[in-house]
Formats: sequence, C-alpha cells, structure tokens
Amino acid sequence: MKDVQRIAIVDPSDSTREPLRNLLLGVESIWLEAECSRYEFFSDVARQSSPDIVVVSLDADHAKALQLIQQLTLDFPGLPILAVSARGDGQSILQALRAGAKEFLTAPVVLEELLLALQRLRVNRPAPDGSASFNGSPRVDSLVVAVVGSRGGVGCTSLAVNLGCNLAQEGQHNVALIDLDLALGDADVALDLIPDYTLADVAMNIDRLDMTFLRRSLCRHETGLSLLPHPVQMEDIALIHEDHLQRVIGLLRASYSHLIFDLSKRFTPTDLTAMRMSDVILLVAQLELTSLRNVVRMLHTLGNEDGLGDKVKVVVNRVGSEDGEITLKKAEETIGKPIYWQVPNDFKAMLGARNAGVPLLTHAPKSKVQQSLLGLANSLCGKGPEPKKERRSFFSFK
Ligand SMILES: Nc1ncnc2c1ncn2[C@@H]1O[C@H](COP(=O)(O)OP(=O)(O)OP(=O)(O)O)[C@@H](O)[C@H]1O
Ligand SMILES: [Mg+2]
Repeated sequence: MKDVQRIAIVDPSDSTREPLRNLLLGVESIWLEAECSRYEFFSDVARQSSPDIVVVSLDADHAKALQLIQQLTLDFPGLPILAVSARGDGQSILQALRAGAKEFLTAPVVLEELLLALQRLRVNRPAPDGSASFNGSPRVDSLVVAVVGSRGGVGCTSLAVNLGCNLAQEGQHNVALIDLDLALGDADVALDLIPDYTLADVAMNIDRLDMTFLRRSLCRHETGLSLLPHPVQMEDIALIHEDHLQRVIGLLRASYSHLIFDLSKRFTPTDLTAMRMSDVILLVAQLELTSLRNVVRMLHTLGNEDGLGDKVKVVVNRVGSEDGEITLKKAEETIGKPIYWQVPNDFKAMLGARNAGVPLLTHAPKSKVQQSLLGLANSLCGKGPEPKKERRSFFSFK
C-alpha cells in the first residue's frame, strides 16, 4: 500500500511491547510514530505525535488501560483504538470495545490478524469530507482474482499476466501475481523475469514468515506488478501445502490491493484453496466443445461448495479465431450462465508479446486484445459495465 499508517503504541511491559513493536516495524505500510511505556503519559504522547491509529496493550493493568481508552475516545474522537490482550475472553473484549476500542486482538498478536485489523480501521475511518478514505487518498479494498482454465492452452497465463500488468498501471494499486501452476507455470517467462525466490522458498520458511521476508520474495516487473513464481525444481512442489498457501494468501491479501492467481488445470488442493480465498474466479473458455463441456462440469463441481459457484465469471478467450466456432448465444445456453467478458483472438499481438517476454501494454498497446483486457481489469474494479443476469441452462446439471 502506498498509504502509510502512523501508529503509536502504549504498553508498560517490555516483554510484550518488544514483540509487538517488532511486528509493526516489519510492515512496510506502517510507520511507528511513538512508543510509550506509561498509560498516564500516553494522552500527551498521542497529542504530540497525532498518529492515525493507537494500539493500547491492556495486560499490564486492565483498569488503567480501559480508563485510558475512555480518555482517548473523549480527547480524540474518531481516532481508531486497537486494544491488545492475552485475555481474549468475551468479557475482556466487550470491556475494551465498550470503553471505545474499535478493534481487539489477542496477544501474542498474529501478523495476518494485525494487518486485517489495520485494514478494517483504514477502511472504516471517515475522511474529513465524509467519504471513506484514508490520509486524503481514495479507499483501496483488496481484490483477489483466480484465473482457471477449462482446458490446456486456453489462455490463462496470458490473461493473468496482462490483467496483472493492467491493474498495476493505476497509481494507487499494488498488485501481485502468484503462479500456482506449480509444475508447468510460465508467468515468469511471460514477463521475462528471473526470480531469486519462489513459492517453495516461502513455504520452507513459513514458520518465520513476516511481511519483510514475503515482500522480498516477490520479484517486481517494470510495470509495477510483483510476481511470486512457482518452484523451479519440480520436486519442491511437495513442499507447498494448502495451509502454507492459506497463510501466504492471507498475508499478501492484507498488504496488496490486488492478487491474481494463475491456477493449474488439475483442480489440486492448492488450486481449490486459492479459489476458496478468491473474490472472483475467472473461468477461461474458448468457443469449442471440449472447453464448454468442461466449463459445465467445473461450474457443477464449484456449485456444490457453498459460495464458490457464485464467484465464477466466465471469460471467453480468442473470440473470432475459427469460422465454425460455437456462437456466444449457444455457449451461454450451454453453460447456463452469461459470458462475463469476451477477449478477441489476436495471434500476432499475443504471440509477439509472449515471445518478447513483455505484456501487451508494452508490445501492442493499441491492439484490440489489450484494450479488451484493460476493460476486463477496469470491470473487475467496478469501473466497467454491469455483468448480465444469470440464465438457466438446459444442459447444466442443476
Ligand atoms: N486472445 C488470444 N489471441 C491469440 N492467441 C492467444 C490469445 N490468448 C492466448 N493466446 C495464445 O494461446 C497460447 C496459450 O496461452 P496461455 O499460455 O496463456 O494458456 P494457458 O491456459 O496458460 O496454457 P497452459 O495450459 O499451458 O497453462 C499462447 O501461445 C498464447 O499466445
Ligand atoms: Mg499457463
């Protein structure tokens, strides 16, 4: 995130203040404005340092800490207060919230939870003009998009890479692409990046994973897109478990405004974990029988799991590539869902960009295929046309 949240903390106990401080210092979007070891001095510290958020650790003296929270609420209305305590029982949480805290975290604080709480405070903090913003810049929610194909070579990597680069063009976006086609992924080749670290390094260091380490593991492309590539050695794929991926996605989600996953075509447990953690699943198809039949099967499988089917948006790639291709109308009837986006066939621009290892916005910025993918990026950010209404299929399994 480009916005920095300036934080002041108060905790009289060195043994809990130190780890909290180190956690905060590891987050790029946080500036530790002030640290205080006495509850009675903290109001003055807050007045002088005027932080965006204050963190009050309760455990040294609950009564004094709650009194301080009440005082801060009166002195600085609107200043978000995050309370931290090892006593995570309902009573303690209620007391802190009643005193005026906006968020409560159980100590020892877990990085993902801290980041998510800070994100909620950032989003909920009213701007002076009443709109939801932070430090004068527009609010940025995170958006997680999984790109999955209905058969090999359907265009997932091309779409994921170019979507990522287009999204990264917006100044306030911070975009990461995770290559989850763990065996044969080629997002690094498409972007001509030679990464120092891969998802395997992150998985091997999962126990000491913090934001600094994770950020350093991502490789930055000149468009601004960050890439976390698949493992180089195939045998390292076994190192990556679903719970690792869950943790990595949780951390990245709290730190990047947009995450894109380039998934494999094998419906592996890691693919499913990524889809569960996504806001949108772009299911890429082409206007031919095998692909459309697989779309119906995949929609059926995903529809069996609560909440997954509703996230799917069907994107048809390479429209206009063959004379005898199935019509869009027939395709929609077959899959029982409107086609969310159509990407035109443009062999020259796509292949040229892939062979040069550059995104379309560099290689063929005016091409129809680039314009279409830019439109898709905008639409996913809520800047495009409304998707069509759902329609029932006479071929669907439902
Ligand atoms: N809209 C398009 N127009 C023309 N060619 C395209 C288009 N989209 C993708 N291609 C071409 O199709 C081929 C396969 O694309 P891509 O590698 O993106 O597919 P994939 O689904 O990721 O494949 P894999 O199953 O190997 O992961 C590439 O040569 C790419 O240039
Ligand atoms: Mg691919």
